[in-house]
Amino acid sequence: MSGALLEVKDVKKHFPIKRGLMSKNAGCIKAVDGVSFSVHKGETLGLVGESGCGKSTTGRLVLRLLEPTSGEVLFEDKNIYRLSFNQMRQLRRDMQIIFQDPYASLNPRLTVEDIIIEPLVIHGIGDSHSRRQRVKEMLDLVGLSSYHGSRYPHEFSGGQRQRIGIARALALNPKLIVCDEPVSALDVSIQSQVLNLLMQLQDMLKLTYIFIAHGLNVVKHVSDRVGVMYLGKIVEIADSEELYRNAMHPYSQALLSAVPVPDPEIKRERIILTGDVPSPANPPTGCRFHTRCPQCMDICRLEEPALRPVSDKYMVACHKYQ
Ligand SMILES: Nc1ncnc2c1ncn2[C@@H]1O[C@H](COP(=O)(O)OP(=O)(O)OP(=O)(O)O)[C@@H](O)[C@H]1O
Ligand SMILES: [Mg+2]
Repeated sequence: MSGALLEVKDVKKHFPIKRGLMSKNAGCIKAVDGVSFSVHKGETLGLVGESGCGKSTTGRLVLRLLEPTSGEVLFEDKNIYRLSFNQMRQLRRDMQIIFQDPYASLNPRLTVEDIIIEPLVIHGIGDSHSRRQRVKEMLDLVGLSSYHGSRYPHEFSGGQRQRIGIARALALNPKLIVCDEPVSALDVSIQSQVLNLLMQLQDMLKLTYIFIAHGLNVVKHVSDRVGVMYLGKIVEIADSEELYRNAMHPYSQALLSAVPVPDPEIKRERIILTGDVPSPANPPTGCRFHTRCPQCMDICRLEEPALRPVSDKYMVACHKYQ
């Protein structure tokens, strides 16, 4: 046993680009291009980065909602990509996902009760009485009332709807939950309520989270460790406190400089990134970030820096430190 609940090993996902029926070699989008990390039981790993850097694709690969181009994902030491259809079906009870947009992810034609019951029915768990009991329990857990069960998603506010999404994800008593920007679509005033709920549930139910967000401000609050992604790669991964205090990768520094700092002791220079994010279909040679890096050196254009430990539990992929 490695001690990790989840181990992701050099996972890649390249989406072929389809240009019309006849053309074959139109290339591919390297959405995730060699990502490795582990997540321990009870921990929250944050994944951050700009739009399109591969966060959601990573989350979906971890749950095998997508088949990888290569690499391994070990859940409790089992490579999930080697599991049969039936074994995978069993395992799906242990791994759930909460989406950004509860409007799109909840079926508008089902009552809340049916939405929460659905996974229990799919997995053949309990009878109709115990399932209804479970719905009550779940609603209570996420701060809704049992009479909400007979209502439809459109009758709820955004925050309540996300609570329904959380209740559904919890119904099967999972071990791992991928939270894919669970509060980004919500009103700022509601965001911290939902974040607090997620953290309380984690404590109470011993859940393990992968928490995806754009910015470091949300993630800092909830994560034990944070991985920063850029163009399909993790460029830095460390304890969230440490990364927040002393980010090493120029990309993380730039992301952080965009976050207002409440602590006057910490002074941050505002770093403005120039240029657009390059296309993941054709990432830059060498370090992928070199086209936008304010500290770019010659070697950065030529050689790709590996993600290496610079100290205990701190990994960074940057030539400045190698
Ligand atoms: N099914 C797909 N087919 C083709 N390309 C895809 C597919 N899914 C994602 N991509 C591409 O892969 C890249 C990574 O997408 P992904 O959704 O993982 O990014 P993200 O970091 O979650 O972005 P966001 O912050 O906007 O949610 C993007 O360029 C995206 O267009
Ligand atoms: Mg996404």
